[in-house]
Amino acid sequence: MDYSAILKVCYLLGSLSFIVGLKMLSRPDTAKRGNLYAGLGMLIAIAGTILFHQSVNHATGEVTRIGNLPYIFGAILIGTVLGYFIAMKVKMTAMPQMVSLFNGMGGACAALIGLVEMNTHHPEIFGERLIIFLSLMIGSVSFAGSMIAYGKLEGKIRDIGSKILQVSNNTIVFVLIGAIIFLSMSGPWSDGFIWLIFVASLVYGVLFVMPIGGADMPVVISLLNSFTGIAAALGGFMYDNQVMLTGGILVGSAGTILTVLMCQAMNRSLWNVISGAFSATGPSGKSTEGLSISEINATDTAIMCAYAQRVVIVPGYGLAVAQAQHTCHEFEKALEAKGVEVNFAIHPVAGRMPGHMNVLLAEADVPYDKLKEMEDINPQLPNTDVLIVIGANDVVNPCAETDPSSPIYGMPIIKANTAKNIIVMKRSMAKGYAGIENELFYDRKTKMLFGDAKASLEKLIAELKDV
Ligand code: TAP
Repeated sequence: MDYSAILKVCYLLGSLSFIVGLKMLSRPDTAKRGNLYAGLGMLIAIAGTILFHQSVNHATGEVTRIGNLPYIFGAILIGTVLGYFIAMKVKMTAMPQMVSLFNGMGGACAALIGLVEMNTHHPEIFGERLIIFLSLMIGSVSFAGSMIAYGKLEGKIRDIGSKILQVSNNTIVFVLIGAIIFLSMSGPWSDGFIWLIFVASLVYGVLFVMPIGGADMPVVISLLNSFTGIAAALGGFMYDNQVMLTGGILVGSAGTILTVLMCQAMNRSLWNVISGAFSATGPSGKSTEGLSISEINATDTAIMCAYAQRVVIVPGYGLAVAQAQHTCHEFEKALEAKGVEVNFAIHPVAGRMPGHMNVLLAEADVPYDKLKEMEDINPQLPNTDVLIVIGANDVVNPCAETDPSSPIYGMPIIKANTAKNIIVMKRSMAKGYAGIENELFYDRKTKMLFGDAKASLEKLIAELKDV
């Protein structure tokens, strides 16, 4: 029996689920379902392939079905169990590491497909060879790069930046591409060339990520994610498999768009990120010598907030580190019970991954309509009685607007300094991700409430009860 029509329907359903799922991921209230739809699409595509895929030998008319089923089901079982436990265990702040690890696995798959197909498929024409070589190269770069990104985020690998590395990286990539085009045009070649391309691509993946600042890893992971998508799409071409092609194109384009959006939100070029211009040893910004800060305690902060009409909370990376999202929601409710209007100002790159603050606050059931985008909240800040910065630093740093020599100059910010009163909650005077001083902390309207964000919020909630 010919199952090819059923298989096509499975692929169509799979592709549709990917597209609908991806669309739903763009809103916090639909994101969870979107993820499930996309997962279901993948299940349909895998089950369809196992059940209905047939290869026909045109000479003999012989039909072969998918073999090696015990291996396939064994691999699916191991992957599912591992994936489930890793995803259940991962802390919100370690999410970029997990994405990096999983993305690396995608890259490794593409690279292995390239290796296997080059040896078993023996492609005859230039286009076929080129596709397989590119899949091998891009998949290997993505795998090796993702592993280095993982190591950096875990703090196990440090940044190594030098001009020589940049030059050698550019040389390797040009030589690699040249060799791939040459080998695709010539052939047949010995296995040695295929392994050479594989190893050179792995080396390039390592060297490519090595100079990039550890904190820039989310941008790099998004870029590597788009590489994996492209490698998967090439696999789709290779196997004439529509669902692989659609999935690959979606991942490739979504990763590219995300990379560009992150760079725009930080007002940095992709080249500036890739060349490691923002690493830990970067500039420290304007000096704050001679300026003084003023501190406040939890009691006075609670009184100030309780008698305010409008309060705006600016969450940042520190809120995620302290895992204070639930306490923050409790604090918001305690203020609202006193008749205070509370909103959250969300900066697009607050935290360490796209949508970090939205995900964090959604997890704590903060209503979505309270999360105000930067462009919408900024004009309202001059009418805000108290603005509370919780574990944010760079995203409220006024030097992004005033100091052309600052590495974050031009980055759109939450204009915290325009509010009537500012409370900054953090543990110390330590710098943020960009490694620069923040003049906001020295503003005469600003009071510093030192301590871990969660502990400080708990104190504020307790104090509010007595106000
Ligand atoms: P940061 O500028 O990194 O500042 C976070 C602040 O949180 C630190 O100054 C730290 O000060 C404080 N903190 C840490 N743990 C804390 C805790 N337990 N309790 C209270 N405070 C704590 O964060 P941000 O303002 O969210 O800015 C994000 C930065 O990351 C931007 O520069 C952005 O460009 C960059 N970035 C973002 C992304 C994405 S996609 N979100 C990707 C790459 C880079 P203390 O140590 O003194 O407490």
